[in-house]
Amino acid sequence: MRSAGGESLMLEPPSRARAFELDPDLTPLLAARWSVREFDITRAVAAVDVRALVDAARTAPSAHNLQPWRLWITERGTEQFDLIVASLADYNAVWASRAALLIVGVARDVAPDGTPCPWADYDLGQATALLTVEATARGLGVCQMAGRDESALAAIVACAPGERVAIVSAVGYPGDERDLDPAATAIHERGRARRARDDAATVALSTGP
Ligand SMILES: Cc1cc2nc3c(=O)[nH]c(=O)nc-3n(C[C@H](O)[C@H](O)[C@H](O)COP(=O)(O)O)c2cc1C
Repeated sequence: MRSAGGESLMLEPPSRARAFELDPDLTPLLAARWSVREFDITRAVAAVDVRALVDAARTAPSAHNLQPWRLWITERGTEQFDLIVASLADYNAVWASRAALLIVGVARDVAPDGTPCPWADYDLGQATALLTVEATARGLGVCQMAGRDESALAAIVACAPGERVAIVSAVGYPGDERDLDPAATAIHERGRARRARDDAATVALSTGP
């Protein structure tokens, strides 16, 4: 994606976000993404971009098209944002408090009409992945977080029966990597290595992998 002035708006990974070997022709949006934990505290996300993130999630496929999830989005500077930060694990709260947005992903194991949704986590994961790709195209970083107090979050986002908080995503413009909290630095230092292609997938084509 390019701005009216022609410059690239897409997220550009810093050298610290160690690259791993990928097909050179892979869609640049996928190659450029990394889990951003260093946010620019001076930049908010415009409402038009928030709407696009929601729409990206809405494009996701889902089993029986049940779309068994909802997103609960809050921005820094609000009471709700502070409540979400307080419900995160300490190792996430420190850096996630600098994000512009926190997005709580709620999975619906049972639809409001009583239909069971056994693939709710899978479907929410796909919606979150597509939201993340759209964010990358807009120069935004996303880091998903499993480390949190689920029951506190369920109360904040008012989970109905059959609903469950599955993920919290921090979203914002990447900031200076020198602002990265030591807890997050430790995560980065574990690296971003990927399993080898032949370990990740069994490819049985007549033409080979
Ligand atoms: C379901 C899920 C839970 C995650 N939980 C956390 C978390 O609690 N804290 C964190 O810093 N990163 C978390 N991550 C981010 C992963 O650590 C990250 O995706 C992985 O290290 C690969 O790095 P990359 O996303 O930069 O390619 C999570 C990612 C996913 C998909």
